[in-house]
Amino acid sequence: MMHLAFLVLLCLPVCSAYPLSGAAKQEDSNRDLAQQYLENYYNLKTDVKQFRRKESNLIVKKIQQMQKFLGLAATGKLDSDTLEVMRKPRCGVPDVGHFHTFPGIPKWRKTHLTYRIVNYTSDLPGDAVDSAIEKAVKVWEEVTPLTFSRLYEGEADIMISFAVKEHGDFYSFDGSGHSLAHAYPPGPGLYGDIHFDDDEHWTEDASGTNLFFVAAHELGHSLGLFHSANTEALMYPLYNSFTELTRFHLSQDDVNGIQSLYGPPPASTEEPLVPTKSVPSGSRTPAKCDPALSFDAISTLRGEYLFFKDRYFWRRSHWNSEPEFHLISTFWPSLPSYLDAAYEVNSRDTVFIFKGNEFWAIRGNEVQAGYPRGIHTLGFPPTIRKIDAAVSDKEKKKTYFFVEDKYWRFDENSQSMEQGFPRLIADDFPGVEPKVDAVLQAFGFFYFFSGSLQFEFDPNARMVTRILKSYSWLHC
Ligand SMILES: *[C@@H]1O[C@H](CO)[C@@H](O)[C@H](O)[C@H]1NC(C)=O
Ligand SMILES: [Zn+2]
Ligand SMILES: [Zn+2]
Repeated sequence: MMHLAFLVLLCLPVCSAYPLSGAAKQEDSNRDLAQQYLENYYNLKTDVKQFRRKESNLIVKKIQQMQKFLGLAATGKLDSDTLEVMRKPRCGVPDVGHFHTFPGIPKWRKTHLTYRIVNYTSDLPGDAVDSAIEKAVKVWEEVTPLTFSRLYEGEADIMISFAVKEHGDFYSFDGSGHSLAHAYPPGPGLYGDIHFDDDEHWTEDASGTNLFFVAAHELGHSLGLFHSANTEALMYPLYNSFTELTRFHLSQDDVNGIQSLYGPPPASTEEPLVPTKSVPSGSRTPAKCDPALSFDAISTLRGEYLFFKDRYFWRRSHWNSEPEFHLISTFWPSLPSYLDAAYEVNSRDTVFIFKGNEFWAIRGNEVQAGYPRGIHTLGFPPTIRKIDAAVSDKEKKKTYFFVEDKYWRFDENSQSMEQGFPRLIADDFPGVEPKVDAVLQAFGFFYFFSGSLQFEFDPNARMVTRILKSYSWLHC
C-alpha cells in the first residue's frame, strides 16, 4: 500500500510528459529501484500521509541529495546516469541517516582492538580470506595509533562473517549485486561487526568482488567512519573505483577522517635509539614539496622510480609525471617501513630492500620466498650492522653499498663482494658528501642524496656536475 502511493507520487515528475507505452514497465521497475535505494541509503520514509502533503518535492529533494552525494548532476530527476548509479554494487551502509543514531561520535575508547573471522565464504580458500582481512586491517593500522589482534574464539570487538539474505539483523542482504556488505559503527555486541553478502562472488583479484577492498571499506565503518562523497576515497559508497589491487591507496580524505577520530600513529618504536635519517620527523605523512625533504632509500622498478620515506613511497613513472603516493604496506605487506637502502638488478628483474642487518627481494609486488636474509651473506664483515644506501650500475653489473664514509662493491656476475673494499667515498666520488641516504642511477649520472641535497655525479668525468634539492624528482 505504501509502496503504491510512492510510485504514484514518484511518477509525477517523471512520467507525466510521456504517454503510457511499452516502456511503462521499465519505468515501474526504475521507480521501484529508486524507492528502494532512497529508503535504504537516504533515509526516505515511505509514510503515505506525509507524502501526500509534501507532494513530490520531498522525493525530488531526496533524489538531489543522492545525486549530490554520489557526484552526479543534481537534477532531481531519475535520469539514466542516476539510474545507472543506483544499479551499481555498493556498500549496504546508508549514506544518510545511519543504522542507529548515536549520541556523539562513535569511536573506540581503546586503541587495541580484536577481530575474529567467524566463518568463511566458499568462493575462496580460507587463507585467502585471512590474508585479505589482515591486509585490510593493516590499511588502518598504518595511519592510526590503533593496533589489532586476531581471536579464534569468543567475542571479538569486530566479528566478521559471511551471510546471505536475512541473517539476524535488521538489514537483509539482497542476493547477487547491489549491497555487498555492511558494518556497524564502534560499540559493544553487534557494533563494530562486519557482514559480507555471500551471494556475491568474492575474489582475490578484480574478476569478481574484491574481498580486500570491500573489507578495508567496511573496517572504516567498524572504526567509526561514515561514507564520504569524495569519489577518490575508500569510504565512497560505490564499488566502482577499484580496478587494480596494486594501485590501492588510502586517499587523504580517508586519512583525515580516521585521524580526526584517533590521531596519527605514534612515533615508531622499532627505531634505534641513536638518531638516524630514519627517525620520523614529527609530521606523520611526509610532504612531497617540503624543501627539507630527505629520502630513506630510492630504487628503480621496471622503469619507474620509487622514493621511500618513512612508511610511504612516491612512485614516479614515465607516463605519469605526477608522482603517486602510497603506503609501503599496501604494495608489500610483509616489508618493513623506514628502509635503509634499495636497488634494482634489472637483469634479475628484482629489487633488493635493506633494513638493519636484513634484506628482502621483491619482484613487482611480490616479496620473494626465502627472505629476509642477513646482509652478511653478501660478504659484509660482522661489524657492519646496516647500510646507508645502495645502487646497481646496470651496464657494469656492479652494485655499490655505502656505509658511513666508505663503500663496498659487489659483482653481480660472480655474485660476490669484490676484493680491495671498502674504499673511502671521498676518494672515488669527490665532491659527494657522506653520509649518503640514497643513490639513484639515471641519465648516465649517479644522484647521491644526503639530507635535503642531492649531488649529481658524472662517473666518467669523476666530478659533481650539479647540486640539487632532493625533492627535485617529485615535480614541486
Ligand atoms: C556465518 O555467521 C553468521 C553470524 O553468526 C551467520 O548469520 C551466517 O549464517 C553464517 N554463515 C554460514 C555460511 O554459516
Ligand atoms: Zn560503506
Ligand atoms: Zn548484517
